[in-house]
Amino acid sequence: MKLSAPVCRRLEKAARAAAKASYSPYSKFPVGAAILVGSGKIYTGCNVENASYGLCNCAERTAIFTAAAQGERIVRAVVVYTPTETPTSPCGACRQVINEFGPAAAVVSICDGPGRIETTLGQLLPHAFGPKNLL
Ligand code: THU
Repeated sequence: MKLSAPVCRRLEKAARAAAKASYSPYSKFPVGAAILVGSGKIYTGCNVENASYGLCNCAERTAIFTAAAQGERIVRAVVVYTPTETPTSPCGACRQVINEFGPAAAVVSICDGPGRIETTLGQLLPHAFGPKNLL
């Protein structure tokens, strides 16, 4: 979906703010995410790590699971922020989770440098396996 400039700015501000709550003592790589959902609301998330490293949860999935737990079922856009010089794209696991609720979602990566990535879930995860394969 095409994001309007004001909505994109709101999502970017929310993603930057969300990174402040990151719990990332192991990687020291804080990440914030903000998503626009079907109801028009914005939900945010940060990465939450664990001493058992494999249990770390990415910012994008935190935001999506938070929204899903409030009954949201459509993800229209995902913005991910990292305090880096270059933008960070969602990991493979997060792409799969975004696909569940937002196969056509806009995905925007922002950082502290001038670069940004503006793409779609369809471009990040072509030929995805999803709910339609099971129904
Ligand atoms: N991480 C995210 O939260 N989102 C991404 O898009 C990339 C990686 C987190 C997971 C882990 O806490 C840390 O960044 C380093 O991989």
